[in-house]
Amino acid sequence: MTGETEILGESLPFDERIEIPNWEHRKVDLGTYRKSHESSVKNSEVLWETVAKELDWQRPWDAVLAKGEHPHVAKWFPGGAINLSQLALDRHVAGNRKNKVALIWEGEAMGDDGSPKEVRKLTYFDLWREVNRFAFLLKNNFGMKKGDRMAVYLPMIPEAVVVLLAAARLGVTFTVVFSGFSAEALSSRINDLGAKLLVTADGLNRRGKQVNLKEIADKALEQTRTVNQVIVVKRTGSAGTNMKAGRDFWFDDLMRGVPVSARVEPEQVESEHPLYVLYTSGTTGKPKGMIHDNGGYAVLLHATMKWVFDLKDEDIYWCPADIGWVTGHSYVVFGPLIEGATTVIYEGTLDFPQPDRWWQVIERYGVSVFYTTPTATRMQMRFGEDFVKKHDRSSLRLMHSVGEPINPSAWRWLFDVVGEKRCPVGSTWWMTETGGIMISILPGLMLIPMKPGANGLPIPGIDAEVVDDKGDPVAHGEKGLLVIRNMWPGMPGAPTGMWGDPERYVKQYFEKFLPKDYFFCGDYAVKDNDGYIWVAGRADEVLKVAGHRLGTFEIESSIVSHKAASEAAVVAIPDPIKGEVPIAFVVLKNGFAPSEELRKELRHWVRSNFSAIAEPSQVYFVNKLPKTRSGKIMRRLVKAVAEGKPLGDVATLEDEASIDEVKQAYESLTII
Ligand code: WT7
Repeated sequence: MTGETEILGESLPFDERIEIPNWEHRKVDLGTYRKSHESSVKNSEVLWETVAKELDWQRPWDAVLAKGEHPHVAKWFPGGAINLSQLALDRHVAGNRKNKVALIWEGEAMGDDGSPKEVRKLTYFDLWREVNRFAFLLKNNFGMKKGDRMAVYLPMIPEAVVVLLAAARLGVTFTVVFSGFSAEALSSRINDLGAKLLVTADGLNRRGKQVNLKEIADKALEQTRTVNQVIVVKRTGSAGTNMKAGRDFWFDDLMRGVPVSARVEPEQVESEHPLYVLYTSGTTGKPKGMIHDNGGYAVLLHATMKWVFDLKDEDIYWCPADIGWVTGHSYVVFGPLIEGATTVIYEGTLDFPQPDRWWQVIERYGVSVFYTTPTATRMQMRFGEDFVKKHDRSSLRLMHSVGEPINPSAWRWLFDVVGEKRCPVGSTWWMTETGGIMISILPGLMLIPMKPGANGLPIPGIDAEVVDDKGDPVAHGEKGLLVIRNMWPGMPGAPTGMWGDPERYVKQYFEKFLPKDYFFCGDYAVKDNDGYIWVAGRADEVLKVAGHRLGTFEIESSIVSHKAASEAAVVAIPDPIKGEVPIAFVVLKNGFAPSEELRKELRHWVRSNFSAIAEPSQVYFVNKLPKTRSGKIMRRLVKAVAEGKPLGDVATLEDEASIDEVKQAYESLTII
């Protein structure tokens, strides 16, 4: 697997090394890092046990790691019990962080005086009290207990944090569904998990407009069998919210009935008990429900918050990710609160009402550690430096990016313009499945030189490698597949790795390299001469649109659920801001003719029936799609045409004319 590797058309500066004088205290040379990494991998159980001892456990573990019933699902710290709500709240409240601000929340709306209309600050004590009250309600009024499941469909409001921590407190396994997803996405997740309860809101604010979330939730509930109780947070207060008697309850009304003195003792939660199930897109079929446990997950979060973010008590930490994605779970809610940090949550869009909203938030609260994305960075680059420079960023001391490859020039912009060469800038590689960061520079532990666009070396205890199809390491500088060769705390958890589908779990992540027990990540990567890993993009049919993970198959299913569409092939093409965007080639049913109208309608259809982030940036009509003789759509060929690249092997193509169709359709629209 050779070939040029680049990120958004920019070649990778393998030999560039950037160091900053003010991080001398953590500086190590590469040889030292590599040696200590090697020994951490050899003795990874010792390492993780040392980290685990820094947390408060309800009951100590019998072993660090044990194989589960299923060969590829491990149990971390079996025999141990730990409660993440207790870790994130009770131990701080009992110690000297009781009156420290845990959450700073800012609503989207701006007042005429140039300051936000709504800001809420909750101390650890405040948050602990609210979580106790809500857990009390869940337990006593709704009968929720350990092992039950609930779904959460909420915007970025403090209640979302309260709800997640209350569920963790009771050992109720939750699934968060991104509030930008449609009713279908919500109902399929509820059904797969068998959630008994849904927590949602009347609406959400986005770019000054309101979206009626409850209406979408109601549509989803028509398609579900298990939810019979719904708690609704009043966010927008929009008139006419439909509340079904006996099923739907206002959060505020319920909470008013719970005294501030209400307490619920944190449940004893077994280390391997599922904390949450998060659905993420795969190559085929419906989204996969990845299970994360309590003990191993907490250990990985604690380690990475320290090593990667170098978090100190005086820091103000901000990660603008939505709680609907894994970054929101790990690095907005659980990670920072376990560490006792002050974490900022902003409700709205980063460029609303003005492009400098980002910098305003950083200035207003004195954000010191900032976790951003390549897409947001590229957007800001386009707005220009003036927006940045007009705000005080002297509080910033460390930045990381996540979600997709960062092109070297975006990295340089964060480093030079935003951080004025003072702050380490990293690109942390991980995925929903890994639970936490796996490959990154480690400003909180030992800092090696940075390289613009690189992810860095694997973190201690993680044996990540770039391999060929057989699982053998590729030569340095050559493109290969990213694998993780050992087990790590925070990996998909017991009992089945993937909710209800152990076979699919093994097939997806392990089958490719069996009998080697390598976890196949699905990414292309390059390892340079210094051992730095550069993840360059997905090797499968998963898209990363503005860092959001979507499956081509999901978008195609959405398209063909429209009455006019008979078949669809969706591929990603590079986009200078969003990294990638989907485009769709569609075969129409008899009786429907291509038209500009229909193009628009299909795009809009995906937007409202799946998600706005999945909307194809263009729809092309064709009479047939390139397929194999067995009828499988050859998206690889469609993509090659769209990118103007050589087609490669076409031996299995059934009908070569189909390629000309795709070419013509593509060119007729793009030449203009
Ligand atoms: C995929 C996982 C990681 C939490 C949010 C995304 C891509 C993620 C990076 C990075 C290059 C990255 C990979 C990965 N990715 N971070 N720093 N550099 N690529 O989680 O939605 O499960 O997506 O995101 O392709 O496989 P996710």
